[in-house]
Amino acid sequence: MTNTPQLRPLGETLGTEALGIDLSQPLDAADFAWIAHAFAEHPVLVFRDQNLGAGELAAFGRRFGTPRRHALVKYRHAEHPDVSWLTNVDEAGKVDWYGVKRATDWHTDSTYEDDLPLLAILHAKEVPSEKGGTMFADMAAAYAALPAATRDKLAGLTGLHGRHTGPAGEKLYGDLKGVTEKQYHEMPWPAVVRHPATDRQILFVNPMHTHGFVGMAREESWPLIEELAAHATQERFVYYHHWRVGDVLMWDERATMHRGAGDSRPEERRIMLRTIVYAN
Ligand SMILES: [Fe+2]
Repeated sequence: MTNTPQLRPLGETLGTEALGIDLSQPLDAADFAWIAHAFAEHPVLVFRDQNLGAGELAAFGRRFGTPRRHALVKYRHAEHPDVSWLTNVDEAGKVDWYGVKRATDWHTDSTYEDDLPLLAILHAKEVPSEKGGTMFADMAAAYAALPAATRDKLAGLTGLHGRHTGPAGEKLYGDLKGVTEKQYHEMPWPAVVRHPATDRQILFVNPMHTHGFVGMAREESWPLIEELAAHATQERFVYYHHWRVGDVLMWDERATMHRGAGDSRPEERRIMLRTIVYAN
């Protein structure tokens, strides 16, 4: 490592630039340790002006764990299936409406799966002329700001997660659910988890996939999920990332929720590479 990399905050709560790192070069142990340490404290970490191929992005992801293939085959990268396309353009160059609408309400990825991703990485290749950002909510800060009575109530609760079965999932997807290779069953996760590196408590309920709590009637659980989502997505906990071509952005899949802002013109191309990484 020649120059020590630097951190620069982007948002009030989340969003931190890591300066002085070229991800196209092999990362030595010191650089990697610096990134891993920074990421534990800053769960949305941005590297500007990068130019990575899909193979290089997958290799970066593999430093942290094991990338997993996207459930929707059509979005997998042909040569590097550990990487998928996040795109609003179909094979014929027309607007892909599922790609436009996809993931534009608050969620944490894959909480309906048997195991949880550690992190995900997006690399912007084409971005709209304005807007088209990705929003992140700080779920540790949101948890800490809950009233004590709510924190007490959540301490004993286990959330139930399905594919798009939460309040936001039903609204967003309705009959436009993607066809995947596998069937999903309901997954239980504690409503509050601890971050493995910082030990901070994190609100682990998201309105896309959480559709109830063990032992709680729907009339009670549904409003609670919506109330928690409204709380966690107040402006004070949210960072809006304005994409530039070349951005590599990694986020912690437990400490944050995210959504596509869905606010750019759909006919403007928005193309990114993505990899999602699980513990080895
Ligand atoms: Fe997502």
